[in-house]
Amino acid sequence: MSNARCPSVEGDSGQPRGGLDVLDGSATRLQLLGAIDIHYGLGGLSSEKLERASRFAGWLSEHYVQVNDAAAGQLLPSSEPAYLSKIHRRLPNGSVPEDVFVDFASRMPFSQVLGDLADFGNMRAHDKDADMRGYIGEALSPQRGETLLDAGCSTGRTFLAYVDGVHCIGIDIDLASVLVGAHAWTAQPRNGKPTLCCGSILSVPIVDHSIDCVQSLVVLGYTPIRSALKEIRRVLKPGGRLAITLEGPGFLRELWEGQEASLKDKLGLARWYSGTKLQEAGLYWQGSRQLGRLAGIVLYTPASISRVLEANGFEVVDARTLRDYRGLPRVVGVTARSR
Ligand SMILES: C[S@@+](CC[C@H](N)C(=O)[O-])C[C@H]1O[C@@H](n2cnc3c(N)ncnc32)[C@H](O)[C@@H]1O
Repeated sequence: MSNARCPSVEGDSGQPRGGLDVLDGSATRLQLLGAIDIHYGLGGLSSEKLERASRFAGWLSEHYVQVNDAAAGQLLPSSEPAYLSKIHRRLPNGSVPEDVFVDFASRMPFSQVLGDLADFGNMRAHDKDADMRGYIGEALSPQRGETLLDAGCSTGRTFLAYVDGVHCIGIDIDLASVLVGAHAWTAQPRNGKPTLCCGSILSVPIVDHSIDCVQSLVVLGYTPIRSALKEIRRVLKPGGRLAITLEGPGFLRELWEGQEASLKDKLGLARWYSGTKLQEAGLYWQGSRQLGRLAGIVLYTPASISRVLEANGFEVVDARTLRDYRGLPRVVGVTARSR
């Protein structure tokens, strides 16, 4: 059983709702966003950081609607202040004070909070990831009464596609995204709210074999994939469905050819390349803390992710390229069942 702890968002009544009964009870409860109940207990988070997160959440709640498409899809692969300032300059004028942005983002493991905000706010008008969500939704087709886990859910925006009555649980390591999602979900006119947790998918606070289906959209390339799949299998019911999307080599090529990529950015991308090749050659560097510094992301093709899934207790049902760049898989989708 996992000993992970998480903050999560409950339904309006404050009573555990929907998927909450599958949480393993390790979460403790705090009030972070005023009207929103959050179970909190992220290991190692100092009270100072918690207070800062709370302040930032308050700030976000006043300003988030001002962030627009300009920020969509911006990842923050580096937490260096200079890099974050560069990202900040791309945001709409006045949407986020630079010091707030840099201070907060530099302390988050993988903060893409502004991009997520932008996507969430513009979901109806603009949706660059509709292909991924369409694939996942069709592959899983969660039914009323079923419980679905999103591993690396960010704000939980993908849950919007599902009917009321599906118990949605999302976990993400990025507190900022979870807080933003918590805030945004309160404004959604739906009967059921998802349970959002802050924590790692490598240690999910969910009891064994309790989940009907798991989705994970462009997350597993960033994590030690064998450990992540082991944890997903632990929480899935036997025969449970898994649908994931991952970045492929076309993502690297696209960024490499991007007009704004500096030499430093390109050196970072070269590390991705070496990491992917090492993994393909059978060296599981993601499992080692030291080698883990070699690269930040592993890129998969339909064939390479299928091999990994089959070797880790899943039966692959479908694997395909969902989006390509110059003939290379840019986004890969795969569907499998837990064996
Ligand atoms: C490219 S984003 C995709 C977010 C979301 N699935 C979507 O499609 O909008 C990758 C996400 O994975 C999360 N992530 C990375 N490693 C994680 C881990 N070990 N546990 C939980 N979330 C993780 C990041 O915080 C980030 O939100």
